[in-house]
Amino acid sequence: MNTQVEQPRRGPSLTLLHSIPMFAGVPDSQLEQIAKVAFHRRVPRQTTIVRAGDSTDSLYVLISGGAKVLNSDEEGREVILTLLGPGEFFGEMGLIDGSPRSADVVATETCELLVITKNDFKRCLAENFDLCLNIMKSLVQRLREADRNIESLALLDVYGRVAKLLIDFSEDERGQRVIRRRLTKQDIAKMIGASREMVSRVMKDLENRGYFRVEEGRIVIIEKRLAANPGPVPASRPQPT
Ligand code: CMP
Repeated sequence: MNTQVEQPRRGPSLTLLHSIPMFAGVPDSQLEQIAKVAFHRRVPRQTTIVRAGDSTDSLYVLISGGAKVLNSDEEGREVILTLLGPGEFFGEMGLIDGSPRSADVVATETCELLVITKNDFKRCLAENFDLCLNIMKSLVQRLREADRNIESLALLDVYGRVAKLLIDFSEDERGQRVIRRRLTKQDIAKMIGASREMVSRVMKDLENRGYFRVEEGRIVIIEKRLAANPGPVPASRPQPT
């Protein structure tokens, strides 16, 4: 895996900071302080930005590109905890509780990052109630997402888990639910605890049954039908048109 990173450059603009949800509501005077201590870093695809077990030194905000948060065992089997996109941050857990990194964070494409060192981050937190609140909101959202994942792992079959993941990753686009980000079958398999072959089979079946269609490489969901948590079609049951 690539561990090369470009030399850091200093100084995000206030406009950039305004566009990041984590800084919503933070007054300009305080954003100016953050702009002074944060720096840019560009990393190529496949870079392990944060490695599980390492001590923590910085918080990262994803400006562009994408990354996956994952854990793996000694045999190299991986579980993807989440995919991160522009505007999202990572590396806060170790900074907050002082524990080693809880997971690997790996760039899935070239990433433009904003980096804030541990001491600067703690100082910013101490001075910005809105920043604390935004971080708390994100942690709560992640906990909700983790709860939903536990629920779906415990209660849904692979059909249900694939369907739920597709809905969760879809976004509204002029009244349609569309998955814009690149989502490989391998990634889906690693997120729902199934084999890639099983995910391929289930997706083919769901597509054939009209639960979603692929348009210009993007998945367009026919939401109501997919949300109905489809199971495998028994041979005797007529297939929906
Ligand atoms: P930290 O433990 O410092 O390093 C790994 C990072 O991955 C962690 O902080 C979080 O930012 C991120 N992370 C870990 N688990 C999850 C999760 N379930 N959802 C989203 N992000 C996570």
